[in-house]
Amino acid sequence: MRVEFPIEVVRARFPALKRAEPFVYFDNAAGAQLPQNVLDAIGSHLLDKNVQRGGRYEKSRAVDHMILSAREKVAAWVNAADPSEVAFGMNATSFIRLVSLAIGQTIEPARNQFILTDLDHEANIATWLVLERFGAEFAWWKMRDDGRLHVEDLPPLLSERTKLVACTAVSHALGSLVDVAAAARAAHSVGAELFLDAVHYGPHAPINVAAWDCDYLVCSGYKAFAPHMGFLWGKRDKLLALPTFRESFIPDEPPYKIEAGTFVFENVAGMSAAIDYFETLGRELDPSNTQRGAIEAAMSAIRSFEQTLSRRMLETLSSVDAIVYGVHDPASVEHRVPTICFNIPRRDPADVVERMAEAGFGIRDGHMYAPRLMDRLGLALDSGAVRVSLVHYNTVDEIERFGNALRKIVH
Ligand SMILES: Cc1ncc(COP(=O)(O)O)c(C=O)c1O
Repeated sequence: MRVEFPIEVVRARFPALKRAEPFVYFDNAAGAQLPQNVLDAIGSHLLDKNVQRGGRYEKSRAVDHMILSAREKVAAWVNAADPSEVAFGMNATSFIRLVSLAIGQTIEPARNQFILTDLDHEANIATWLVLERFGAEFAWWKMRDDGRLHVEDLPPLLSERTKLVACTAVSHALGSLVDVAAAARAAHSVGAELFLDAVHYGPHAPINVAAWDCDYLVCSGYKAFAPHMGFLWGKRDKLLALPTFRESFIPDEPPYKIEAGTFVFENVAGMSAAIDYFETLGRELDPSNTQRGAIEAAMSAIRSFEQTLSRRMLETLSSVDAIVYGVHDPASVEHRVPTICFNIPRRDPADVVERMAEAGFGIRDGHMYAPRLMDRLGLALDSGAVRVSLVHYNTVDEIERFGNALRKIVH
């Protein structure tokens, strides 16, 4: 059964969209807007239970309950085996660093190789490169000229010495999807682990750590219709084995051994509500669904609707002769999400973005925190490219208006 994506219902749930009109949010890869139920969850946490967890009184117990429930919801969202595999914290970068510094302590000369990519956000590169001082060596899984990581290029890099492969599930700059399940199979075939950056993937398609069989995964709430916070998921046995710093009163088990200090409770309440938002959408699309089924139904419907957005945006960019980096054929949108980097020949990206801002579009220019990728694309770090990044509350009509504004600037 194919149901039309309920775009008007979706947009009505994000009050920021109407408030900002006629401004258009096309910079969602840098942070997305929040549905009303997320705003309500943050507000009601701060109003009704803004207290420390672990107390014997009702409000404190309510905070404990909220955290437990948020872990269960995030576990359902990523399809984890157990909520204790989910740790909350500040952001994705600090979790990548926490895991890398822990893994750094377990490097042995016989297994000291890390495989990184030149497509990733620098947060999932530099954070591993610092392990050189602990004896780590590095090999590069390179993007091909089509802007994609091809999984066939991974096995020749792997050996019994490979400790870990760190890669993204989708590029936050070019929008190219990675076959992460195949990457996990390849890594595991030599006894290595797979660390996945799903920060950019989270808002666009169903995460499934069970099917992917990755070992660790990080996400950021603020990219996925929740406030600023991050979480780490890891296989329980991997998290148990991870040497982390903890105070003596913190239990030496996940998630507690992973969570440094107090995190921002109201933002965790918001993350939890963002998953309710997905679940509600999924149940509206298919009322017979279970919780995980509803979340998957929502994320799959989002993925499918976004393919239309990708196609229309690529056609629009082609109509102004933009140079699109990565997957640019509107017939190949199954390989991408609607996050698109481009340049207009002979035009400074900053100038294009400045003029588009005047026309009411929030887009971004620069290196996208991916200096190695810019290098691969032959782009100067100080100018980089223009990026438009759409999510499921964006519309074909917004793309048409964007095209009209861009045409005026280009011609
Ligand atoms: C793909 C990707 N990884 C990592 C990060 C860093 O995330 P955070 O800001 O949560 O540390 C970002 C942020 O833009 C990102 O897009």
